[in-house]
Amino acid sequence: MMKHLAIFASGTGSNFDAIADAIDQGELRATISLLVCDRPNAMVIQKAKERGITTFCFRPKDYQSKSDYEKLIVEKLEFYQTDLVVLAGYMRLIGTELLSAYEGKIINIHPSLLPNFKGKDAVGQAIASKATETGVTVHYVDSGMDTGKVIEQVALDISNMNGRDEIETEIHKIEHRLYKKVIKQLLEDIK
Ligand code: GRF
Repeated sequence: MMKHLAIFASGTGSNFDAIADAIDQGELRATISLLVCDRPNAMVIQKAKERGITTFCFRPKDYQSKSDYEKLIVEKLEFYQTDLVVLAGYMRLIGTELLSAYEGKIINIHPSLLPNFKGKDAVGQAIASKATETGVTVHYVDSGMDTGKVIEQVALDISNMNGRDEIETEIHKIEHRLYKKVIKQLLEDIK
């Protein structure tokens, strides 16, 4: 059976593209049924359009509460028989509506070796703390910020790197490889 992914993103969408490429190249047997985006101007929306992927774009401030828009998202996820919810640069905490419907089936990628450098600008945090090592973590999502159970991590030695750009480039390369690999493993376990 073809597995259905929903990807949640708020920004550039390089991870979204890497996953879509892996599907196009036959590395990942799945389909992206839906992109969920909370920022109408995000670059990822154009990327989805070019690929013909359905997008649900919303503005949180148009809703009275997180529950209101999450209820709508859950309806859409159910409509598309979503097997796995993949957060890829979605800059919002997941609330109770989504967690009660999909906990254990929502994953996130974060640019640090969690539990180090949770939250925003993890690369900046690593630089500021003069860390010699950082990395990438894929983890299950719970109600906290970057606190869910770790699935897989890859470390990156940054002791000889020159500045943020180089570190970010290397982090993204790791992310794009790691996310498709973890998604593939998880989908194989879903019956
Ligand atoms: C990635 O670095 C990811 O780890 C973090 O947000 C960034 C998204 O980048 N959660 P992109 O939009 O996929 O290019």
